[in-house]
Amino acid sequence: MEKLYEGKAKIIYPTDDPQILLTHFKDDATAFNAQKKGTIAQKGVINCRISSTLFQLLEQQGIATHYIDQVASNQMRVKAVTILPLEVVVRNIAAGSLCRQTGLEEGTVLPFPLVEFYYKKDELGDPLLTRDRVLILNLASLNQLEQLQSKALAINTYLKTFFSDCQITLVDFKLEFGLDAEENLLLADEISPDTCRLWDQSQTDDPQGRVLDKDRFRKDLGNVESAYEEVQTRILSQIELTTRNE
Ligand code: TMP
Repeated sequence: MEKLYEGKAKIIYPTDDPQILLTHFKDDATAFNAQKKGTIAQKGVINCRISSTLFQLLEQQGIATHYIDQVASNQMRVKAVTILPLEVVVRNIAAGSLCRQTGLEEGTVLPFPLVEFYYKKDELGDPLLTRDRVLILNLASLNQLEQLQSKALAINTYLKTFFSDCQITLVDFKLEFGLDAEENLLLADEISPDTCRLWDQSQTDDPQGRVLDKDRFRKDLGNVESAYEEVQTRILSQIELTTRNE
């Protein structure tokens, strides 16, 4: 099948319906703007399953997403959207670039969720934006920026509690949004251990052992596959538990 677009972790294919695209989740993993490359066995299948599950949960909370359905273990059908060239990052706890850029100590609980916008532009290394830079570069309108901020916070409120029920701390995560033909803003891309920092609450005193996300790959911590599997298992068990109790 002819590809419409190939990114670092996913391939997008067209379908017979121009409003619908097929997302194929790859096992390929990259870090540091693709300077580090590798594969994580079963990642495509796991990330597709986790993303599908989280998109469905968010839809149930009234958050519009591009998700339609999962059609294979590593393939999802999504609504065709024009992706905004922005990465919307929400942080609850200091880690990663926030610590590097501000000197905050890793693990510092932030007094309120921090929403940040990064420019999705590999040539520039995805720099941090300000509100006015977004407007000057025409990356989104003021109204869209406000919508992005409030959607990101609503998603954070829901996911923080959901992950906590899985005994996982949602440290931070990255979202992407797209516009459909009617200019509605839909949550797009994926939400997975590739795009979140997730810390195991049962290993709070072990800064490396608690990591259940792509930082295991970025920092060569080992046991990457089993961490991704653990996240999937906990999410699916939690959903089974809540549906059984309904
Ligand atoms: P950062 O601390 O490196 O800025 O990352 C913040 C969050 O965004 C973290 O959960 C990882 C995620 N992220 C991506 O999904 N893609 C990226 O390219 C980067 C740099 C971070």
